[in-house]
Amino acid sequence: MTDSHTIQKEEQTPQSKGNEKKRMLSGIQPSGDLHLGNYLGAIKNWADRAEEYECYYFMADMHTITVRQEPAELRRRSLHQLAQYIACGLDPEKNVLFLQSHVPAHAQLSWVLNCYTMFGELSRMTQFKDKSSKYKDNINAGLFTYPVLMAADILLYQPDYVPVGDDQKQHVELTRDIAQRFNSIYGEVFTVPEPFISKSGARIYGLSSPTDKMSKSDPGGCVFIMDEPDVIMKKFKRAVTDSDTDNPVRYDRENKPGVANLMNIYSTLTGKSYEEIEQEFAGKGYGVFKPAVAETVIDTLKPVREEAERLMKDKEYLNRVYKDGAERAAYVANKTLRKVYKKVGFYQI
Ligand code: TRP
Repeated sequence: MTDSHTIQKEEQTPQSKGNEKKRMLSGIQPSGDLHLGNYLGAIKNWADRAEEYECYYFMADMHTITVRQEPAELRRRSLHQLAQYIACGLDPEKNVLFLQSHVPAHAQLSWVLNCYTMFGELSRMTQFKDKSSKYKDNINAGLFTYPVLMAADILLYQPDYVPVGDDQKQHVELTRDIAQRFNSIYGEVFTVPEPFISKSGARIYGLSSPTDKMSKSDPGGCVFIMDEPDVIMKKFKRAVTDSDTDNPVRYDRENKPGVANLMNIYSTLTGKSYEEIEQEFAGKGYGVFKPAVAETVIDTLKPVREEAERLMKDKEYLNRVYKDGAERAAYVANKTLRKVYKKVGFYQI
């Protein structure tokens, strides 16, 4: 099954029981502008998810400071990223959207869970090993206990599912272990969540290195949703392809990864199959194909960019979304926190 077909499948998870919606929660680091890979791979599909699940999404600003951040930049991103998510279709009425640092319960539960997480467990986390070798001059304790904060983020909301990428699966596994450990001592306090691996969503690769996932660390091959049309066109015209001149536009992921990636983008946006695309561009070269892909991307992203630009200027609205989201989130989170405080023996008045 090809990439383009998988995206047309619905997200399949165990059926919701009764009429109560299952709960889902995910955190996103406000660490940069969103790109086409984020959009086609995930965010685009989130809009529909709210029909089936009760969804909580938060910007994990507390996680970002495990690596040194420019304060003004972090503030800007926390707001602009919210605007971009809303512009991509994430409706603040239908989803709970909030900023992690606005809900103190995350830090509060995190401390408690620190005392139910083993040093050895944290030492085994591959992300810690990677990041501590990458940021050798700042191996701070937060980098080490990061997965505990993440466990707190999750367990506060008692979600059934946690949608994450492959790189975060180990952290969700640890969260399950912590929840089970706590429950085995104090009774059923936490829902033990399952990682949710979305079956829909396209996998988009970088335009200049089509064997790597599209990433903001390669700006030349990365199309940001806020890019202007001429910038998008330029990036696509420079996209890496190959020197095939006989029959250039055909799907061969192995031998023609650049072309396969462009075909996947085009197919995802137009709904056309690879066969249809091959027919459409039969006898035509990349000089025709690349701008055609760029045009569909430009058309798709135009309304998203314009809406995001409009929202970014409406700080009052964004503040309201964050305030309302934090209230709704805190209501659920504090309930769990009170229970935990009581269980571990903190005296309550
Ligand atoms: N660690 C996640 C990442 O880097 C972000 C995150 C923080 C998260 N808290 C979470 C994801 C809770 C899911 C649930 O991508």
